[in-house]
Amino acid sequence: MKTYLVTGGAGFIGSNFIIYMLNKYDDIKIINVDKLTYAGNLENLRSVQNNLNYKFVQADICDKESITKLFEENDIDYVVNFAAESHVDRSIREPEVFVKTNVLGTVNLLNAAKNVWETEDGFKEGKKYLQVSTDEVYGSLGETGYFMETTSIDPHSPYSSSKASADLMVKAYYDTYKMPVNITRCSNNYGSYQFPEKLIPLIINNCLNKKVLPVYGDGLNVRDWLYVEDHCKAIDMVINNGRLGEVYNIGGHNERTNIHIVKTIIKYLSENVDNTIKEEFIKYVEDRKGHDRRYGIDPTKIKEELGWEPETTFEAGIEKTIQWYLENKEWMDNINSGEYQNYYNKMYQTK
Ligand code: NAD
Ligand code: DAU
Repeated sequence: MKTYLVTGGAGFIGSNFIIYMLNKYDDIKIINVDKLTYAGNLENLRSVQNNLNYKFVQADICDKESITKLFEENDIDYVVNFAAESHVDRSIREPEVFVKTNVLGTVNLLNAAKNVWETEDGFKEGKKYLQVSTDEVYGSLGETGYFMETTSIDPHSPYSSSKASADLMVKAYYDTYKMPVNITRCSNNYGSYQFPEKLIPLIINNCLNKKVLPVYGDGLNVRDWLYVEDHCKAIDMVINNGRLGEVYNIGGHNERTNIHIVKTIIKYLSENVDNTIKEEFIKYVEDRKGHDRRYGIDPTKIKEELGWEPETTFEAGIEKTIQWYLENKEWMDNINSGEYQNYYNKMYQTK
């Protein structure tokens, strides 16, 4: 029975991953360590909270004492590090916490794992640390080309720079100590339980509340969209079969401009929910500082080595996602009535 330490499991991708894994395997144990920042929400895990193979521990990945204790008290086989400050706009306003959690938190986890996994002649068998990274570490593309694992790192925002720094520390633990690690770099995820500060849930939320739909710059920046369950499946494959020390890019060639995403959501909601939702809600606002123009993943390596393929097309995935938000209105209402409103007002008042 393998024991997974999943960090940031109360966030968007982490909670989807825990649910995916507990549905797929009944012979694994998952310990979810999460600080429960504004982005952490235990509601996401309601369907598994009574599962005997699941345990939640509230802790900060930067806290040496709590993390060491977790490794000493549990025979952890795999670490999957999702915990991070994840929003680019917040990183532009407050970079420090991104360095703290994303860089120092990662090093704290690496150290704690190394301390219990390392033996006199290497590392115990069957252990692995997986760092969940991002395609943003590669920087920005022009109109052509794709990010490959061999593409040089060239991050621009405080967020992507902190993620790239963390990747370099993971690489250092492999290069220096031969610690068993993998790094995955995926494109923009979408699906259930995504916090509404991010483009897709923000637009759904604002449409349903008849608010302005803020589109940065000319709306022609491109992101490569990945349905969150396809991402979870890829991580499972990398943990089980990824070659040690390797980086795997994850993406399914689903590039869309931001304005296309916004108009797709408006069309679906207008046709299926409320025909007063209209493109007139769109407001082109001041651009994000240092806004990366285009991301696009080349997933050849993970396809050829591990046989991963995304199962969900963008058209199917966006409909499932919108439907999920419609069916889980209370989840969004709870967020809307909390601290998020202050963030939203401050963030968008000058736009
Ligand atoms: P999220 O913001 O929804 O969730 C982050 C989680 O980490 C939250 O539950 C939060 O409480 C927790 N957390 C934050 N700081 C912590 C700390 N110091 N200690 C413990 N827990 C802490 O993020 P997400 O979108 O689910 O992203 C998860 C990971 O995937 C991140 O590492 C992110 O960089 C990466 N990633 C995300 C995307 C995407 O499109 N969302 C794409 C590529 C990579
Ligand atoms: O590429 C992977 C990354 O994707 C992850 O590493 C990050 O954690 C995740 O947040 C995401 O970053 P982006 O900056 O691409 O996602 P976001 O949803 O913030 O923005 C998507 C695009 O939409 C981007 O070009 C900015 C634009 N945008 C965003 C918001 C919030 C708008 O036009 N209006 C908005 O209000």
